[in-house]
Amino acid sequence: MTVTVIAGAQWGDEGKGKVTDYFTLKSDAVIRVQGGNNAGHTVVIDDEKYELHLVPSGILHEEKPAMIGDGVVINPAVITGEIKNLKSRGISCANLKISPRAHVVMPYHVALDEMREVRPGKFHIGTTKRGIGPVYADKAARFGIRVGDLLDRGEFELKLRHALTEKNVLLREVYGNPGCDPMRIMGEYLEYARELAPYVIDPLPIVRDILQKGGNLLAEGAQGTLLDIDHGTYPYVTSSHPIAAGACLGTGISPRAIDRVVGIVKAYLTRVGEGPFPTELTDEMGEDIREKGGEFGTTTGRPRRVGWLDLVLLNYVNQINGFDDIVLTKLDVLDDLDEIKVCVAYNFKGDRIKFPPGDLGRIGECEPVYQSLPGWNAPIGEIANYNDLPENARKYIEFISKTANVPISHIACGKKRRQMIPVE
Ligand code: IMP
Repeated sequence: MTVTVIAGAQWGDEGKGKVTDYFTLKSDAVIRVQGGNNAGHTVVIDDEKYELHLVPSGILHEEKPAMIGDGVVINPAVITGEIKNLKSRGISCANLKISPRAHVVMPYHVALDEMREVRPGKFHIGTTKRGIGPVYADKAARFGIRVGDLLDRGEFELKLRHALTEKNVLLREVYGNPGCDPMRIMGEYLEYARELAPYVIDPLPIVRDILQKGGNLLAEGAQGTLLDIDHGTYPYVTSSHPIAAGACLGTGISPRAIDRVVGIVKAYLTRVGEGPFPTELTDEMGEDIREKGGEFGTTTGRPRRVGWLDLVLLNYVNQINGFDDIVLTKLDVLDDLDEIKVCVAYNFKGDRIKFPPGDLGRIGECEPVYQSLPGWNAPIGEIANYNDLPENARKYIEFISKTANVPISHIACGKKRRQMIPVE
């Protein structure tokens, strides 16, 4: 029995979609853990590009169950669109299973997220405006609507009307928004319910069965550790738990069943939205990496902020997740740099520190201390064997592994499925 958890080690966008696809090859099933359509996972197979927001990347292995766990929040308009799109491209979704306990993103969640984001200055988070904060807030307040409710017309209407008594006052009185019409939502959402009904199947018995038979299960996280609601750069975070422990919360898998945690680390750092970013590059170098890495949001198209890899943050993230190994992604983006910098410590209030200050929000006050490594100035995208990588590329990889004290098991250097190098 093996449960492998894939966890993002940065602020999301580490390339988890491709890694999940790769690891699904060795798994019997995959389950998405948390987040909603704020995520965007890109997988390229035989020059065909798939951009998925809610359906687990594992769906591209059609014969394996691709499940959506309780911790995910589902916008029915988005998931039904994704299912149609996949089917039109010849991908069967027959093995998609959606937990009835996953919460539903309602139009008022999206409206509230949009309205709140208009606020200036300090209170602007830079969210994806997909209603993620408001839907998780309702879940915690026990005010949410779950996928199971959506399939029960009476229950759905009752909960929707109850929610709107509050939401419409908030939308109209506080934000000057026209509010939501219950009948319109009912019409729209009951149609989604009809489309989604065949996929609403409890993943728990399937998970139990796989584990009892000694099978392999892959838990696919979205976003990254630094966006965790508790352990990230609060308040500039998402509203779920993208850390490895989130895999237990979001799926019902026991922590004892997890035997491998794989951290996904991009060879440099990016973040979208507001929040501190000590190694951010606001110069031409940053622009160059952004262009070469295609660092524009899969979900919103926003340009991502770009910076050097930060091993102080990686030390912290490794503490939170306990990585067994790391997949280092997008190394090829650095192919033609003469020099690559890596942050190895912070100067903070006169001290040199190797772990971030307890309040991660304060990393904005830290000054990064860099170590420079020579670039390799050669294309690595078509290399299949670790030992064929240029010496300086191997030195960069080995430096990260040694400093962060975690083995690096694979190098991803390109979008395609085959562009994955096992580290010997
Ligand atoms: P929210 O999840 O839409 O509420 O956004 C909160 C913060 O998380 C913002 O900074 C977003 O840019 C960021 N975020 C959410 N999802 C992703 C993702 O999949 N990749 C990268 N950043 C994300």
